[in-house]
Amino acid sequence: MIDYSNILSTSAEPEASSMIETFRAIGYSIETAIADIIDNSITAGAKNIWIDYDWKGSNTTLSILDDGTGMNSEQLVQAMRPGSKNPLDERNRDDLGRFGLGLKTASFSQSRKFTVFSKAKDYNSVFWTWDLDYVNQEQAWKLIRHIPEEESWTKNLKCWKQELVLFWFGI
Ligand SMILES: Nc1ncnc2c1ncn2[C@@H]1O[C@H](COP(=O)(O)OP(=O)(O)OP(=O)(O)O)[C@@H](O)[C@H]1O
Ligand SMILES: [Mg+2]
Repeated sequence: MIDYSNILSTSAEPEASSMIETFRAIGYSIETAIADIIDNSITAGAKNIWIDYDWKGSNTTLSILDDGTGMNSEQLVQAMRPGSKNPLDERNRDDLGRFGLGLKTASFSQSRKFTVFSKAKDYNSVFWTWDLDYVNQEQAWKLIRHIPEEESWTKNLKCWKQELVLFWFGI
């Protein structure tokens, strides 16, 4: 093992907006993107998954709901991080995930803004949004607590009660 303590180092963090644009170019179709999200719902033990959309041209919104285990606030922030799990970590046999990326890459492939609402048992509902315009502006990996098209979907109380709701805005 090399002793790194006396070696000069410099930070070379990925640039947030360029990295996300790269995610967008990964080559998902809408079908494979939705399939990646459904994989997550199945792994979370969902018995039901509801997919819906509000067709409004370039402002189309798509929602995917499930009744799996959901996530609490800390778990949701972790889930929204690119590389949220190490591919070398042991996983349950029935876990369909591997890279800790699918939720983000699939969502960014279809939309510039997406929001995940979640509710785990005995925890309050939480939500966070990735908004590529905000990431561009801040040049930082930062989520926002903002619902892009609140009017059209999220007034629907259902999202605050469901274990997981993912919205893709402007697909
Ligand atoms: N519908 C869901 N219900 C509960 N937890 C979820 C749900 N979707 C994602 N998660 C959590 O978020 C994490 C990150 O999901 P993501 O799809 O980005 O990566 P992954 O499934 O671990 O691996 P892969 O990149 O192979 O899909 C999951 O490991 C899981 O813990
Ligand atoms: Mg996944």
